[in-house]
Amino acid sequence: MLPALHPGAHILIASNVLLTHIVDNALANAGLEKRATLVRLVQTLRGGDRPKLADKEFPEVGVMPRAGWEPWSVFRKPLLPGERVSASLRLRGTGALRRPAVDMPFGDIIPSVRTPKRERAIAPHPSLKPQQFMRAIVRAALPLGTGIILDPFAGGGSTLAAAESLGYHAIGTEANAKFAQVAAAAIPQLAALQVTPARGSEEPSIEAPRVGNKRSQCRSATDISQPPRIRHVPDTPLHDLWAVSAEPMAALLVPAHATTRW
Ligand SMILES: C[S@@+](CC[C@H](N)C(=O)[O-])C[C@H]1O[C@@H](n2cnc3c(N)ncnc32)[C@H](O)[C@@H]1O
Repeated sequence: MLPALHPGAHILIASNVLLTHIVDNALANAGLEKRATLVRLVQTLRGGDRPKLADKEFPEVGVMPRAGWEPWSVFRKPLLPGERVSASLRLRGTGALRRPAVDMPFGDIIPSVRTPKRERAIAPHPSLKPQQFMRAIVRAALPLGTGIILDPFAGGGSTLAAAESLGYHAIGTEANAKFAQVAAAAIPQLAALQVTPARGSEEPSIEAPRVGNKRSQCRSATDISQPPRIRHVPDTPLHDLWAVSAEPMAALLVPAHATTRW
């Protein structure tokens, strides 16, 4: 992935408390800078259980805490030596995070919900993330709204749909052909949903479709109505890699190859 990223580009990666340190170490060793941990406030129902097959014997014991949040690590590809964020923003539109609103900084605690039923019905994937949360973080990932959102593990397409709803360019790869088909069908439907911020959130409501501001190269609402395209990417070590995008397919070969280098 590193060769496909501009200096200053951000990577946001979902994790869990048992794995975060392993994933973070791998990314840091690859040369990326850890910048933050986002706290997605959500009751996942993981943890809190009594010991298996001995719950009656140890009624007052829980093996690990019940999770009330999900960690998302935020990394950045380093800026060029001596470069300021302002220079990176001017040159490539990277280096920083987009605020939810001009007078509101992007915060690291994001109230969320478990993925609503209506979204799971549209995109039946076992780890589908909710649009409310994905729109908040995808929006932040492109500080000026320019550039391309890449999801190398596209799953049911929640990242690509969030990008679509924001008018951002986005491409994704998915190893499982069935999930790639699910994503291709789900992206326009998820992107068209109106979602409200979770309770406790200070985020402004992000409605779909949003058209980019003058300074950005976001697509217009008419472009968004074009259906996503899906294509088999055969020349990879992973023989069953699929690419999903509303963009011209030529653009897809870049992240698809980058994914296999990771
Ligand atoms: C945790 S799921 C992602 C779910 C996604 N965030 C969503 O909301 O639908 C990870 C996905 O990555 C896919 N995957 C695993 N290894 C891959 C690879 N090397 N290249 C592309 N996709 C891969 C899996 O098939 C799975 O659908």
